[in-house]
Amino acid sequence: MNTTSSTVGCSKSDLATPALCLDLDKFESNVQTMVKTCRQHNVQWRPHAKCHKSPIIGRWLVEAGACGLTCATIREAEVMAEGGIADLLIANMIAGPVKVKRLAEIAGKADVIICVDDITQADPISAAVSQAGRSVRVLVELEIGMNRVGADPSAAIDLARRVADLPGLEFAGLMAYEGHLLTIADAAEKRNAIDNALTTVTRLRDQLEELGLPCPIVSCGGTGSFPITVQQPGITEIQAGGAIFMDAFYRELCGIDGLENALTILATIGSIPTANRAIIDAGRKAMNIEIYKPQVIGMTGVTVDSLSAEHGSLELTPDAAPLNIGQQIELIPGYADLTNVLHRCFYGIRNGIIEQEIPIVH
Ligand SMILES: Cc1ncc(COP(=O)(O)O)c(C=O)c1O
Repeated sequence: MNTTSSTVGCSKSDLATPALCLDLDKFESNVQTMVKTCRQHNVQWRPHAKCHKSPIIGRWLVEAGACGLTCATIREAEVMAEGGIADLLIANMIAGPVKVKRLAEIAGKADVIICVDDITQADPISAAVSQAGRSVRVLVELEIGMNRVGADPSAAIDLARRVADLPGLEFAGLMAYEGHLLTIADAAEKRNAIDNALTTVTRLRDQLEELGLPCPIVSCGGTGSFPITVQQPGITEIQAGGAIFMDAFYRELCGIDGLENALTILATIGSIPTANRAIIDAGRKAMNIEIYKPQVIGMTGVTVDSLSAEHGSLELTPDAAPLNIGQQIELIPGYADLTNVLHRCFYGIRNGIIEQEIPIVH
């Protein structure tokens, strides 16, 4: 039972549900696919840790060939640095004295790369890290259409120059995220849109280098775009992280294939109140439904209809596979990133047996 004692050595079917299960063979195959794809294109892989928040997984990825990890928060960077990951990109803005102080501490444990889109972020970071006798590398993040953070490309050269002049900061290149282009359905249109967006980045890289501001790092890319991004000349590393798990969003909406669904939610049918409805014990506190609906595995006519906090409602067609109260079923998360954060560990499983509990560090 996965309540207080270890589940290692137990069968998957002995897990108390809902449980977040990681098929280790499929996971390892995905990792190898990512390493191989990046090597083929001479691009580094710096997978995002936001999808797993696990120093154990972080170390496995680096051992497999990742150049380091990408983090979305200061907390993730602290956890990964404490877990022994030496090279960390924080792909988010660090603002306010509390975060700046924590960043200066992380810079004493790992080689850190940060992003800025305004000199106002850089000034206090420069003061804090140089006062601590440390330094961090800095990427200028560009806005390439996502309407989130990022400097306008026309302002980026001035920003890069100013960063390069600050003590404790080493200007190291550019970052951008083409996250607004992941779900373009037409493959040629998607490739074209990503090529255009990233050309803005690589052109700017060329300009900066001509001006004597070298850009050893040009970092882009996520799981929903990496097969295209990895081919873009001038990109030095990609951040695709969720690829290690795969989920329904990446496969169905982003059209990514060649990766295995390594991650599942194990759930139990608690009630079958009507012929067209069954209720499982996995609701919104076990899986995310906002980005894409979780998919029931291997059962015709059984789909997720809606979720409340601790109940999941399945819709059954008249020809649906027969279900029983107490039966376990498995679902592919709609979006792994926002599902994993609801759990305290992954159950790492091989051949139906729990091999390892992998804590998710919040
Ligand atoms: C800055 C940044 N890079 C990359 C990604 C892609 O992450 P993933 O590969 O897990 O989809 C995201 C996702 O939100 C992101 O915000």
